[in-house]
Amino acid sequence: MSEPIVRQLETEGIVVLPGRPFVLTNAESVLLSASLSDGRAKNVSLDPRGAVVRGATAHKVALRALMNRYAGWALDLIDELAPRYIPALERGRTSFRPRDAREAAASPRKDDRRLHADAFPSQPTGGQRLLRVFSNVNPAGEPRLWQIGEPFEAYAGRWLSQVRRSWPGEAWALQKLGITRARRTAYDALMLGLHDRAKLDLAYQRTAPRRDLTLAAGSSWIVFTDSLVHAALAGRFALEQTFYLPVAAMETPARSPLKILERMVGRALA
Ligand code: SIN
Ligand code: FE
Repeated sequence: MSEPIVRQLETEGIVVLPGRPFVLTNAESVLLSASLSDGRAKNVSLDPRGAVVRGATAHKVALRALMNRYAGWALDLIDELAPRYIPALERGRTSFRPRDAREAAASPRKDDRRLHADAFPSQPTGGQRLLRVFSNVNPAGEPRLWQIGEPFEAYAGRWLSQVRRSWPGEAWALQKLGITRARRTAYDALMLGLHDRAKLDLAYQRTAPRRDLTLAAGSSWIVFTDSLVHAALAGRFALEQTFYLPVAAMETPARSPLKILERMVGRALA
């Protein structure tokens, strides 16, 4: 049986849940302070095993507990709304985002105020989906403001022919040097190329089609951020859990960026 949430996720890339807050305890609310961030990393993060906190200067034990509790909550949410994904779902990093998304980024490539589909230089997925659960926990009731861009096919079609192919041995070398956590496939190289082209193309950033999406305090949203073209313009205090989902676990694998790109270039990419 098809689950309506799964259908919406795979076709639209996002499901917003206005009535599903992640409710902080009083003790956890003390952690809602931008000064927790170490000033270098934009986000505080927790590794996929739930052990190591990065990007925070203080309260690491409490932050780890908060992010682990959020990871469990996010998994329960998927279990309730998209149970078919659960057997194949792999936990990735958790993040806590105390800084305002308005703040300038370290570099244009890291600037999530610019429209993009997610691809991370050090985290190749080999084609697995990036499924992320966000929750706006802003205590002052401030929304998080996103923009949603054009469909993935249109986004990819703009730069596909310009993205360079990797050198022979490049993926092997990147992994050997510890730059990537796994082998960067042709799919990962292409996704990263598209991500960088999009963010660095100022005309695209100015003129590309988009719509505003206001994500109220107390709301949560589930997103395939590898296919949904998005930008985060404003808002502070969000939690986020990343999951990896194999394409084969989708109801309609043909809607994955892997299968879409393979169709567009006419060859296997992972
Ligand atoms: C992003 O994935 O581009 C950032 C999302 C956010 O911080 O709201
Ligand atoms: Fe992103």
